[in-house]
Amino acid sequence: MIKVAPSILSADFADMGREVERVEAWGADYVHFDVMDGSFVNAITFGPAMCKAVRKHTELPLDVHLMVEHPETHIEQFRDAGANILTFHAEADRHIHRTLQKIRLAGMKAGVVLNPASPLCLIEHVLEECDMVLLMSVNPGAGGQKFIPEVLKKISELRAMANARGLALDIEVDGGINPETAGLCIKAGANVLVAGNSVFTAPDPKAMVTAIRAGSAV
Ligand code: DX5
Ligand code: ZN
Repeated sequence: MIKVAPSILSADFADMGREVERVEAWGADYVHFDVMDGSFVNAITFGPAMCKAVRKHTELPLDVHLMVEHPETHIEQFRDAGANILTFHAEADRHIHRTLQKIRLAGMKAGVVLNPASPLCLIEHVLEECDMVLLMSVNPGAGGQKFIPEVLKKISELRAMANARGLALDIEVDGGINPETAGLCIKAGANVLVAGNSVFTAPDPKAMVTAIRAGSAV
């Protein structure tokens, strides 16, 4: 089952309640929620207060992607704000095993994110603690960037690693996803696709969500 997670980084920040309602109406599987702190990445977006606010407008799982320093200090805040999946960057945390355990203990699905330059060996020994691994296919910090194709090899290596251990791991890919790049990622072994720009600028966002899930234009 391929899942599509539209990123509300590309939505209208002045009308976020209605925007997540639209995402649900498009038949999306998750709402992808990009938290940026102005330190791990230059941009600043939104945090737990916005998460709590949009929670009231959708039944979809909130897939929260933390691009912040010290992610371990924000776990309970996002749980209390209604987050369902919490992912954080391996590059921002020296104790990823402990942070993954804390997220699960808080009652959320837990995942680690790897930047395009970061190797899979960073997470090799914590895969059993992960419900999801998010592989960045752009450098984090902004929407609308170009897909970095080197991620494809990483996807297939990670899928092989998970299969070899009998793990039903969710492999999510984030950045530059459109129906064509989605197709490449799915073929390599990804099953969750984040898409911001391509969905929110599409003349027919619902058809775009369907096309991304299919990995081909419809
Ligand atoms: C980038 C964010 C992405 C972003 C993707 O730092 O993590 O989730 O919204 O945007 P697109 O799909 O436009 O590349
Ligand atoms: Zn993201």
